[in-house]
Amino acid sequence: MDRSMDLQKAIRHHEFGKPEEVLTLESILVPKPRTGEVRVRLLVASINPSDRGMIGGSYGKLRELPAIAGREAVGVVDTLGKGVEGVAIGTKVRFPGEDGAWCEFACARAEDLLVVPDGVLDEQAAMSFINPPTAYCLLKKVIDLEPGSWLVQNAGNSAVGISVIQMAKAMGLKTISQVRRESLIPPLKALGADHVVLEGSDWGAQRDQLTDGEPICLALNSIGGASAIDQIKVLAEGGTQVTFGGMVGDPVRFPTRYLIFKDVRLVGFWWDRWSRTHGSNGVSGVMAEVYKMMTSGVLCLPIEQVYLFEEFEAAMKHDLKPRLGKVLLCPR
Ligand SMILES: NC(=O)c1ccc[n+]([C@@H]2O[C@H](COP(=O)([O-])OP(=O)(O)OC[C@H]3O[C@@H](n4cnc5c(N)ncnc54)[C@H](OP(=O)(O)O)[C@@H]3O)[C@@H](O)[C@H]2O)c1
Repeated sequence: MDRSMDLQKAIRHHEFGKPEEVLTLESILVPKPRTGEVRVRLLVASINPSDRGMIGGSYGKLRELPAIAGREAVGVVDTLGKGVEGVAIGTKVRFPGEDGAWCEFACARAEDLLVVPDGVLDEQAAMSFINPPTAYCLLKKVIDLEPGSWLVQNAGNSAVGISVIQMAKAMGLKTISQVRRESLIPPLKALGADHVVLEGSDWGAQRDQLTDGEPICLALNSIGGASAIDQIKVLAEGGTQVTFGGMVGDPVRFPTRYLIFKDVRLVGFWWDRWSRTHGSNGVSGVMAEVYKMMTSGVLCLPIEQVYLFEEFEAAMKHDLKPRLGKVLLCPR
């Protein structure tokens, strides 16, 4: 039977807007790999804040409409196009997500495949392509941190935050993680956090007790607003704040005195841009480090719940609730 005439399930949107208003589960044609391409079958996909930005039309890059939603997923090669050599059917790879990852099948050029090493579980692999490499770059590529250095981050219970906690521990760095709920303190400490502090608790006044008087060199900000300002206030002279997300949506109001009197640096980071500018060699190098940590048990991201595609509305609602792990989507 010609599989190209088969239909697949895809979660799509025909306009930009809130996921609950614009996403629909549709049947679309299964693509057929062209010469040099392979077709990949989806295993598991993750839901990330940037998916909402892409569905809503506010992200740094957008798809043409109608668009398949989602960006991050793992799959297996299920069909080889003409001329493809050196790739085996069944190889576990990053699901080709450029044109949307919340669908059952997609094609990619064989040379562009990112292979997932044996020993990485499907659900961990589904969460491995965006947040862990972002965390790794924030710790290793933005500024050169000496072992033993302190850093502070907000959204400590996010996938990036948990990756930072686990990676920092393995790298000999020390972390202060800001969270919005007291119930997150024990689990994050169990994952390796040095200190977990509550947003809005004036925790900055205890900076010297928290670090034993040692300086805080790096602040990782994915929230904005008051949370970001609290970080700037505890940074040491010459310290750097990296903004890589804006969950609050407010512009960060910056107290000028910290720029002038403490020479604090404000920079940004976007994994997509880093990947583009550093090419496939740069990405493979970072992913090799991420997978080394996943297979050795240094890095293991919690899962909140796995939903079927048919349950995507409940999954999107759950994703917005207080949680300590990713909400994942499975086609069947
Ligand atoms: N620039 C890049 O390359 C890049 C790459 C990856 C991720 N990111 C960004 O990193 C951030 C975390 O992503 P993720 O996938 O790791 O997140 P996630 O696991 O989905 O968790 C979301 C986090 O955001 C927090 N949050 C949500 N709304 C908030 C609000 N209004 N105020 C304060 N906190 C809020 C949540 O805290 P509660 O549990 O308290 O709600 C939770 O800690 C996002 O901003 C994302 O866009 C950026």
